[in-house]
Amino acid sequence: MTTTNTRMPVTKAVVPAAGLGTRFLPATKATPKEMLPVVDKPAIQYVVEEASAAGLSDILMVTGRNKRALEDHFDRAYELEELLARKGDEDKLRRVRESVSLANMHYVRQGDPKGLGHAVLVAEQHVAGQPFAVLLGDDLIDPRDPLLSRMIEVQQELGGSVVALMEVEPSQIHLYGCAAVEANGFGADVFHVTDLVEKPEVADAPSNYAVIGRYVLDPAVFDVLKKTEPGRGGEIQLTDALRTLSTLGAEEGGQVHGVLFKGRRYDTGDRADYLRAIVRLACEREDLGPEFRSWLKNFVGTEMQG
Ligand code: G1P
Repeated sequence: MTTTNTRMPVTKAVVPAAGLGTRFLPATKATPKEMLPVVDKPAIQYVVEEASAAGLSDILMVTGRNKRALEDHFDRAYELEELLARKGDEDKLRRVRESVSLANMHYVRQGDPKGLGHAVLVAEQHVAGQPFAVLLGDDLIDPRDPLLSRMIEVQQELGGSVVALMEVEPSQIHLYGCAAVEANGFGADVFHVTDLVEKPEVADAPSNYAVIGRYVLDPAVFDVLKKTEPGRGGEIQLTDALRTLSTLGAEEGGQVHGVLFKGRRYDTGDRADYLRAIVRLACEREDLGPEFRSWLKNFVGTEMQG
């Protein structure tokens, strides 16, 4: 087992983005699902903004075929910028440039799509022995409810790995990794994770604490992932590797903590939740909000009757 210094600062984030997005076909036939707009920004930009706001300046995206648009989005667009500059359209120019300066972006391809655990494993060389964050692109966390910075703080205090937990209806637990927890005295929102199971049936679920798509991982996870057999769906599951980590001692890079999230989260991988995210964020926008809210009120009041 590699010896690791768990108190090294967290500076890198890994964003798995190799999924095919079949739930959004045909929109995702030729466009990566991560590029679908939430109001006027692609979903993936919110995720990169979140990592950047938590102080993570180095982001590795794990991509696959048909994902080149992601690289272009976080790169300069000289022709477009020149055109807007010539027109003196400062506002649009600022919006085009916004995504470029968020972080240092790196890309690696996953090759075979063998699951989330496998996607994390291909980041090993880039992450090189430091604790690191993982952000799943389908989960959009409202920027006003900071979660990642709290998770990093907990990792720096307690070492080991940290998962984000959210209470869900028992009937929904089969959609998530599920954690068994006990109090650890570090704060009302922090737990010691004693067990984890990927997408259990409600009868087998040890709790209604769902793992949501933010992780801060000790690099010991890589050695564990290499030995993790395919699990649910025949895929190498990150949840299974975390379960093993939860049984290891701190000196082996083990121990898993959970941070309970009570803020606003949208699952943009789900069509109905994706629409909810757009409506909510549009309502709150200073530029679009006032007009959109009044239209929506009218729509709900009249068109939706019956
Ligand atoms: C993945 C993880 C699961 C986690 C979920 C959060 O599942 O495997 O443990 O609860 O993300 O969104 P997916 O939704 O990719 O099937």
